[in-house]
Amino acid sequence: MSTSGARHERFHAARRDRRLCVLEGLHAIKHALRFAAPIEEVVTRDHAELKQLAEALAPDVAATIVSAAVVVTEAEYNTLAPISHPTGVMAIARRCGYEAPDILAAQRGPVVLLENPVHLGNVGAVVRVAAAAGAAGVLCSGRHDPWSPESVRAAAGLHYAVPVARIDQPPTCPGRFVALDADGPPLASVQMPENALLAFGSERHGLSDDLLARADVRASLPMQEGVSSLNLATAVAAALYTLRAIRSR
Ligand SMILES: C[S@@+](CC[C@H](N)C(=O)[O-])C[C@H]1O[C@@H](n2cnc3c(N)ncnc32)[C@H](O)[C@@H]1O
Repeated sequence: MSTSGARHERFHAARRDRRLCVLEGLHAIKHALRFAAPIEEVVTRDHAELKQLAEALAPDVAATIVSAAVVVTEAEYNTLAPISHPTGVMAIARRCGYEAPDILAAQRGPVVLLENPVHLGNVGAVVRVAAAAGAAGVLCSGRHDPWSPESVRAAAGLHYAVPVARIDQPPTCPGRFVALDADGPPLASVQMPENALLAFGSERHGLSDDLLARADVRASLPMQEGVSSLNLATAVAAALYTLRAIRSR
């Protein structure tokens, strides 16, 4: 097989390999490097463009990205992902092997639980805000892999900044389980530990009866009359920053 054929195989196999993570675009690679991702391979369609962009947008890691990048033709670059990233750079890294029990053992910071999310863009946006707001981790149930390339792209590579893991069964966390539900009392009025497990339902169906029954308490993000719900990632962002604001008082 030619070098480019082998590279095409590696990038496509990596999309399905649960030990690997495909990083699409400069911001994802920048964040991954900042948080010590074990990067295995970087490709770019234009070395000069990459150098200029990296020095402008990621000066702290620009030298590492530029020196690691192998130049491929634009035609080859466009075959490496279903939607080519406009910054002209992609990478493969090894994943962090987080497990749910380790994430749940965190004493500081809330853990976010997503029940059966439908949109990988939402999963990525949740990882991104969880990293920014200082959450202790993100757990995700359902059919999707939260480390999928689409989710990592939406998270701008911040899977290396906050522990992220898939779960098969909802965890049991007595005294910590908070169901985010538009019909509950306002979040700001609810007492909970610093390491609360904040559960959010799916975009279509909300939280299942099973998860609502496991919750110690429900909590809502108040909305104007007539609005039935927030987007999933927006709800996570509002909840995490509400808790952060309360804790910093
Ligand atoms: C898009 S909403 C789900 C809407 C769904 N049609 C329903 O009936 O619940 C996704 C999740 O975000 C959270 N959420 C959205 N708006 C909320 C609010 N105002 N207060 C608390 N949680 C909210 C809930 O956990 C909800 O299950």
